[in-house]
Formats: sequence, structure tokens, C-alpha cells
Amino acid sequence: MSKYKIYTYGCQMNIHESEKLAGILQDLGYTETQIDSEAQIIVFNTCCIRENAEQKVFGNVGALKPLKKVKKDLIVAVCGCMTQQDGVGQRLQETFPFVDIVFGTHNLTLFKEYLLKFTKTKKRVLEVNKDDGSLPNDVTPYRTSYPNAWVNIMYGCNNFCTYCIVPYVRGRERSRPKQDILNEVELLVKQGYKEITLLGQNVDSYGRGTDYDFADLLFDVDKIKGDFRIRFMSNHPKDITEKLLKVIQNSSKICNYIHLPLQSGSTNILQKMNRRYTHESYLEKVNLIRKYLKNSAISTDIMVGFPGETEEDFLDTLKMVNTVKFDGAFTFVYSRRKGTKADLMTDQIDEEVKKERIIKLVDLQNSINREKSLTYTNKTVQVLCEDYDSKKDLYMGRDELNRMIYFKSQANIIGQFVMVKITETGGISLYGELV
Ligand code: 5AD
Ligand code: SF4
Repeated sequence: MSKYKIYTYGCQMNIHESEKLAGILQDLGYTETQIDSEAQIIVFNTCCIRENAEQKVFGNVGALKPLKKVKKDLIVAVCGCMTQQDGVGQRLQETFPFVDIVFGTHNLTLFKEYLLKFTKTKKRVLEVNKDDGSLPNDVTPYRTSYPNAWVNIMYGCNNFCTYCIVPYVRGRERSRPKQDILNEVELLVKQGYKEITLLGQNVDSYGRGTDYDFADLLFDVDKIKGDFRIRFMSNHPKDITEKLLKVIQNSSKICNYIHLPLQSGSTNILQKMNRRYTHESYLEKVNLIRKYLKNSAISTDIMVGFPGETEEDFLDTLKMVNTVKFDGAFTFVYSRRKGTKADLMTDQIDEEVKKERIIKLVDLQNSINREKSLTYTNKTVQVLCEDYDSKKDLYMGRDELNRMIYFKSQANIIGQFVMVKITETGGISLYGELV
């Protein structure tokens, strides 16, 4: 039987799109393997949000050369955000003569056609469509994340933060029809999925310009019968509304967990980033969230070393982190992306300074993580059991606030909601016992 292997880089959107690619391959009779040499087709679903993501892809694709030499009929395909940048598809095929198929984010669901065309003609395929405002075809994903299921609700982004390549490679915002989303969630819940994550580059923009917005959608998803949790990501702070928070407040299924990307704590830098909020208005949003959602968690994305970031600007970021005390933070060093406005800014920051700042930021957030862990001491929380960690010989899952918790169980309880009493709160991970 023919096998496939998919390498996935980047965000949840890509992880879910790889499930769609897998769905297409399974439909054609392929089965999954984790071993390169067993595969008849290897797909790289790429990311270009930062330079190191791109370098990784080039390195990993290049590493296939020896295998392709001995396995002439191996098909190598590259897709995803990286291929959508000007000229990168051609560059990939020039650099790697063994890359057979290259296709973009806008034509991801046409993978089957490209694959059939290549196997028939043996001619290399390069298909990178421009954003034409249309939604991708629906394909049935081959889901790999039970008991969680990702559901796309919108694609693209209109925000044009000046550092970000996403609007260029993912196009403008397009929302999926409400009924398609509700049908998909209903089916997933019937199939036994216990956590539904609504996905989009900027979910709060769902339905913008219509009379049915993201809060309305959440309200309707919440009404679907069944025992399941609802999460959503990612958000833009400027779009969090009281209407949305009220829907979350009144729901027992929607997790009181909001990912609220900060990027910088300096109003100056936020303005240069085109983020459309200030240090103060971000704090107001945090307070609003905490007003409506009493027991809630807020996580964030933060970047250091954006062009022109002074020591004072950076201290504003640390101050914000100290004030808000995020329940988790993804921290990044600013990376220049061709085609973005920030790449043209002349006051780029020295790599050494960036390094010093990221170390300080990570240290601070780590200490907050430890502080937050301690608040779990002796608490009993509801956990959705997600997986078994064979190295630790423990099951793991998350509570409503997205905290990872490990615990022992004799029976396989993946996909079940269980109560766990926390017994160990040392680092970021928590440990507990089933009660
Ligand atoms: N450099 C570094 N980090 C970036 N991000 C987006 N673009 C860049 C860039 N050019 C980060 C932002 C975003 C997260 C998904 O990636 O923090 O929220
Ligand atoms: Fe990029 Fe900003 Fe859009 Fe997020 S909101 S995808 S950071 S442009």
C-alpha cells in the first residue's frame, strides 16, 4: 500500500490544513507513515512567518536529496505559506530539482488534481494562485488530534500589521458560511470530538460587514447539543467586544480562555506596528475580559526587537507583562520579512540587543508561569484527557484555562472529561491524581 508523510511547520491553521492534505491522500488510498524511506509521497506544508521557519524548510527539503536518488519514484510536494511569496515557488524548484509539485495556500484543496496530473504526465507542477476572494473547497480532513478538532471559520487577514507576512500569503478576510460551520461542528460532536477549536487568522473578524458576527456564531455553536468544549483562535485585541464576552460569560461550553496577542507594550512601537491600540487601551481590554470572565486565562504573543524599539519601549513591554501576568506567552524575536512595511524601516535593531531582550522577557514570563502554577496547589480541576505520554507513563490533558496537567490512570481515558487534584506545581507542567 502506498504511504505518505507530511511535514508541517507553523501555526494551527497549517496543522489543520495538513489534516486536509491527509484527507485527500487517504481518499486516494494512501496511508500515513512517519518514516521518510517508507513513503511514496512526502509533502512539506510550509510556514514563512519568521526567517528561521523558512530556513528549516529549505534544510529539511534539501535533506531528502539522497533518498530521492535511490527512490526515483518518490514524489516530493511543497505547499503552504512559503510558496505563496513572490518567486519562492520557482526558487524552490530551481534549488531542488527533485521537488515535483509546488502549490500555494489558495489552491491547497486542489492537491488531488496536481498529484494526478503529475503522476500522469511526469511534468513538474507549479501552481500558486493569487487570492481571488473565494473560499477554498471543502475537503474532509483526516483528523489526527482527537479529542480536539479544528474547524476553519474564516481565512485571511486585513489588518496589515507592518511586520507580518500573513496578509500577503493568506489574502483578504473571507468567512465561511455559518451553516457549513454549524453542520461541521454538529457532526464532529456526534462523532465524539470533545473540544472544538474555531480557527481563523483573526476570528473576531468573522462575518464583518454582515449582520452575523463572531459573537453570533459562538452563540449558535454553543447551542449545539453535546458534552464538549469550545475554543477559538486567534484574536486581535481591538476586536474583542462586550457582546462577545457576554456570550462567553453565559456559556458553559466556551472556555474562559482568550489568546490576546500583545506584540509590544510600547504605544510608540504599537503605532509603528499598525496594531491600532495603545498600552492603555490594551490594559482596558484585559480589564474588560476579567470583568466579564471572573475565572479566566489570557495568553499572548510578544515580539522583541521591532525596528526602532528603544530600551524604554522594551521596558514598557516588561511592565505590561508584569501588570497583566499572562497565563502563557509565545515570545518571538522580530524577523524581517520581504514585502512588509517594517522591512523597509531603517532603524532595524542589532541582533545582540534582540537576544538580550528576549532572554529577559522569557525569564520574566517563566517566573510568572511558576507563580501561576502555585495557584493550582491542591485545586481540583476538570481536565479533558487528550493523550498518553509514554516517556512519562502518564496521561495528559488540559483544564478549561488551557493548563497542561499530567496524571496517572490504569484505564485509557483519552477523550473523557475527568476531575484531577493537583499535587505537584513545580514548573509549567502540573501533575495531579484522578479523583
Ligand atoms: N517576526 C517575528 N514574529 C512575528 N510574528 C508575526 N510576524 C513576525 C515577524 N515578522 C509573530 C506575532 C504573531 C505570531 C503568530 O507570530 O507575534 O502574533
Ligand atoms: Fe499578521 Fe497582524 Fe493579521 Fe495577525 S492580525 S495575521 S499579526 S497582520
